[in-house]
Amino acid sequence: MIIRQESKEDIEDIYALNEMAFGQKLEANIVDKLRDNCENLLSLVAVENGNIVGHILFSPVEIEGPHGVIKGMGLAPMAVLPNVQRQGIGTQLLERGIEELRKLRYAFILVLGHHEYYPRFGFEKASLYEIKCQWEGIPDEVFMILWLDKSMTEKVSGLAKYRKEFTDAV
Ligand SMILES: CC(C)(COP(=O)(O)OP(=O)(O)OC[C@H]1O[C@@H](n2cnc3c(N)ncnc32)[C@H](O)[C@@H]1OP(=O)(O)O)[C@@H](O)C(=O)NCCC(=O)NCCS
Repeated sequence: MIIRQESKEDIEDIYALNEMAFGQKLEANIVDKLRDNCENLLSLVAVENGNIVGHILFSPVEIEGPHGVIKGMGLAPMAVLPNVQRQGIGTQLLERGIEELRKLRYAFILVLGHHEYYPRFGFEKASLYEIKCQWEGIPDEVFMILWLDKSMTEKVSGLAKYRKEFTDAV
């Protein structure tokens, strides 16, 4: 299996994959809107026998707090074709994404997701660092942060904001 950056030819397959994995079009539409509006995305695909079987997207987030506005990346969405889930494809996509963002010198990655899944990659509850989610009613344990630059843990706290395409979609 190959993990690589998305290309223009992948766009329809990525849409279909997200729709299939989530059972709705919401996430697929967000991916398309972000691609249209946002320059600094990291969009990786997992390709097996020429077919796209997994996708992961990272888009810019900002945390506004006492230390000013600090930029990082938000992981969302992430999807693997239902018939090949639990075979390690998601793990490979996420590990590659973390590696790329580390090289690009981002300080942190935020995620809103399964609390049994992301801690194995080093994600911790964001509330441990007084980082709050912009949306009301999100359970504490599902909003998580992975520090790529540990020296920033003392300097980042406050309200985390995702791109407006996420809020517009719901
Ligand atoms: C979540 C997802 C991307 C993981 O991809 P994957 O290739 O299946 O993941 P991996 O094979 O690397 O890891 C498997 C582990 O993921 C976890 N996992 C997979 N699906 C899960 C789910 N729906 N809920 C909680 N944990 C899940 C399990 O802990 C599993 O480990 P196990 O098989 O030992 O129980 C994939 O299941 C998926 O596309 N789900 C539907 C869309 C989704 O929920 N996306 C995430 C939004 S935050």
